[in-house]
Amino acid sequence: MAEKGARTCILLSRSGAEGKDAQELLEEMTTRGVNIAAPACGISAEAAVSATIKELKQSMPPIKGYIQASMVLKDGLFENTNSEDFNTTTKPKVQGTWNLH
Ligand SMILES: NC(=O)c1ccc[n+]([C@@H]2O[C@H](COP(=O)([O-])OP(=O)(O)OC[C@H]3O[C@@H](n4cnc5c(N)ncnc54)[C@H](OP(=O)(O)O)[C@@H]3O)[C@@H](O)[C@H]2O)c1
Repeated sequence: MAEKGARTCILLSRSGAEGKDAQELLEEMTTRGVNIAAPACGISAEAAVSATIKELKQSMPPIKGYIQASMVLKDGLFENTNSEDFNTTTKPKVQGTWNLH
């Protein structure tokens, strides 16, 4: 996206900018002139999404679009899936998408 001209980007994940890979990506994007933020934000929690967006509004332009690429895997046969695993895997997809909306 940066190669195609994106100049502002927010990356939401529960782990945020933790870890070497994340730090390297942020440094690379900043070097390319991209205004980038990677706050820790679990999108399944509406309050976390609201608070994060409210804070970022201070320093970022209006949001023009988003890509929902969150995923949590708990591989197994459906008949062996308990409700906790079902909720863990569907929440970021369903509730997370609704919260971003
Ligand atoms: N890999 C495949 O073969 C494949 C095939 C078809 C479709 N897809 C789709 O492509 C997308 C990306 O897949 P991927 O393979 O790149 O997966 P991935 O490497 O596991 O990345 C998933 C990301 O979702 C984040 N995430 C999980 N729960 C979250 C939450 N509650 N709030 C915010 N972020 C959350 C994770 O970060 P944290 O853990 O830090 O939150 C992680 O960065 C997914 O939508 C997946 O369904 C993948």
